[in-house]
Amino acid sequence: MRRGPGSLYRRVQSLRFAAGRDRQAIGRFLRADYPIALPLASRLGLVARFVRITNHVRTYHTQAEMLTVADRVFRLADRPGLTVLEAGAGKGGGTAKLSLVARLAGARLVVCDSFRGMPPNVERHENIYGRTTEFRAGAFRGTLSLVRRTVERFGAPEACELVPGWFADTLPGLVRPLDVVLLDVDLLDSTRTCVRWLFPRIRPGGVLLSQDGHLRATIALFGDATFWRAEVGIEPPVVHGLGRSKLVEIPAAASTAYRTNDTGGGPSGPPPVDDVRSLLA
Ligand SMILES: C[S@@+](CC[C@H](N)C(=O)[O-])C[C@H]1O[C@@H](n2cnc3c(N)ncnc32)[C@H](O)[C@@H]1O
Repeated sequence: MRRGPGSLYRRVQSLRFAAGRDRQAIGRFLRADYPIALPLASRLGLVARFVRITNHVRTYHTQAEMLTVADRVFRLADRPGLTVLEAGAGKGGGTAKLSLVARLAGARLVVCDSFRGMPPNVERHENIYGRTTEFRAGAFRGTLSLVRRTVERFGAPEACELVPGWFADTLPGLVRPLDVVLLDVDLLDSTRTCVRWLFPRIRPGGVLLSQDGHLRATIALFGDATFWRAEVGIEPPVVHGLGRSKLVEIPAAASTAYRTNDTGGGPSGPPPVDDVRSLLA
C-alpha cells in the first residue's frame, strides 16, 4: 500500500492523529484567548488546512507541535512589526502552515534554510528514546522552488520571505527584531549558530522554540551556562521542557533579551546592541 504524501494511508493516519495524539493540542487551540478576534470557524479552518498540508507534503513535525508554535504567535498578534522566523524548512510543510498563521496574526514569516538539505558534518547523535542517528549531507533537502511551490499551493506566500544559504552566512546579516523563532535544524552546530545570532534579536515577551529537544547534544547545549554566557552573551535562560520534550521553549525575558552585546557575544558576536534597539524605536 502506498504511504507517501497524497496517499489514502496518510489521510487516515492524519485523522487518527487528530482524534488521538494531537487532540488535546487542537482542543486547547480552539479554546485559547488571543488579543485579536479569531473566530471558531477560522480556527477550525486553520486546523483543517494544517491536516491537508500534512496529507500532501512530507513533514517532520506533529500537528500538536505546530499548533503550539501557532499559539505563541497568536498570543502576540497585536504587536506592531510582529515577525516569525523559521530556521529549517525541509520540504516546506511547516513553512506553509506558519505562513497561514502569520497571515491571520498580521505577521511576517522569515524562512531560513540552505534549500540544499543538511550541510556536510561528522555529528553522530543519540536521542532521549535511546536511538542513535546521523544527519547526512543533503538530508531533508527541499529546493527553493519546491518550498516556494508548496507555500503557493497550500499557504500564504504574501506573508513569507525565503532566505537561502547556510545559517553561518545568512543569519549574521539578518538584523531585525524577532518575536517567535522556531528551530528545526537537527545538527548541534546549526542550533548553536541559530541561537547565537537569533536569540538576542527576540523582543521581550517573544520566544524561541526548538524541535530538536529530543537530541542529547541539544539538551546539553541548552543546559550549558558557559554557552549562554560566552557565546550568546546572556545569563542562562529558563528552558521549558528540557530533557523531557521534543519541542522545548525558551522565553526571551526583558532581563535577558538585548543584553548580549553589552557583554560581548563572543569575538565576532551579534551586532552592537544599539543597532538592534534602533530597529525597535
Ligand atoms: C528536519 S529539516 C526541517 C523540517 C521542517 N521543519 C518540517 O517540519 O517539515 C531540517 C532543515 O534544516 C536545514 N539546515 C540544517 N542545518 C542548516 C544550516 N547550517 N544552514 C542552512 N540550513 C540548514 C536543512 O536544509 C533542512 O531543511
